[in-house]
Amino acid sequence: MRIVVAGATGAVGRLLLPKLIREGHEVIGMTHHESKKAAIENAGAKALLSDVFDRESLRTALEESRPDVVIHQLTSLSSRNFSENTRIRIEGTQNLVAAAVAIGVKRIIAQSISWAYEPGEGAATEDVPLHVSAAEPRKTTIDGILALEKAVTELPEHVILRYGMFYGPGTWYAPNGFIAEQIRQRQVPATEGITSFLHVEDAAEAALLALRWPSGPVNIVDDEPAKGVDWLPVFAQSLGAPGPQTVSSGNDWERGASNRKAREEYGWKPLYPTWRKGFADSLRLPS
Ligand SMILES: NC(=O)c1ccc[n+]([C@@H]2O[C@H](COP(=O)([O-])OP(=O)(O)OC[C@H]3O[C@@H](n4cnc5c(N)ncnc54)[C@H](OP(=O)(O)O)[C@@H]3O)[C@@H](O)[C@H]2O)c1
Repeated sequence: MRIVVAGATGAVGRLLLPKLIREGHEVIGMTHHESKKAAIENAGAKALLSDVFDRESLRTALEESRPDVVIHQLTSLSSRNFSENTRIRIEGTQNLVAAAVAIGVKRIIAQSISWAYEPGEGAATEDVPLHVSAAEPRKTTIDGILALEKAVTELPEHVILRYGMFYGPGTWYAPNGFIAEQIRQRQVPATEGITSFLHVEDAAEAALLALRWPSGPVNIVDDEPAKGVDWLPVFAQSLGAPGPQTVSSGNDWERGASNRKAREEYGWKPLYPTWRKGFADSLRLPS
């Protein structure tokens, strides 16, 4: 298949390109930085220079690429630019979808999140409604996710990957990442809030497998949703950082997500079924 990966240079995208190429796909990686084209080409893909906010250039770029599938892994979360990230989810996704629809692309695979569900007991499954009544600042996140997930349904086939919290190379949880640095400084308190994690390698693998998955949302998370009081001390220890401060709080929507659908219906098997092993592996400092 001819596949355009929007977000080809990101934490997920750069792991995804070689997987797609190994499977024999013709891959076109998109970047909006001339300087990052070489990394895409070195991975064996064709580089496409386009800014998702430039509707016309994006449309021309997709027309020239003529993909069968578009994979949407665009964020501005690496740089922690949250307002731009919301704009990417809303306006960027609309632009990408409009360009894809215009040339008759059949399938889109898009990155969403698994912590947008409304509060409730237990790990959320895909049929739990999204948290539409959330107050700010969470409301902005939810609005972005709602817009993204709605926009992609304009394509006949649309797989929405509701990813867990990424860790691994190139993420906030990498040894040199934003959260790891905060944990070293004891700035992240351990709470009762529950997080579902996901190694980025598993995020990339799921995007590859989603080429054959049915339309709709699917949680892509590890097997072990965990309270902050459980995972944070393990993370800190693996990092060689001091233990966290503990506070007995947590948001009611921090409930984790269930991967039952991905595992049992789609046959997805994470390489890192639990953050316990994943943290240790990804935080092991090079000797
Ligand atoms: N889902 C989660 O778990 C979550 C939650 C919070 C934070 N984070 C953090 O956010 C990062 C997520 O990784 P990721 O792979 O999703 O994202 P990423 O590493 O931030 O990569 C984003 C991709 O989007 C592209 N992009 C951004 N703006 C663009 C624009 N205007 N036009 C075209 N392309 C654009 C970038 O391409 P160019 O720059 O090459 O143009 C890049 O390839 C990790 O660091 C993770 O720790 C993740």
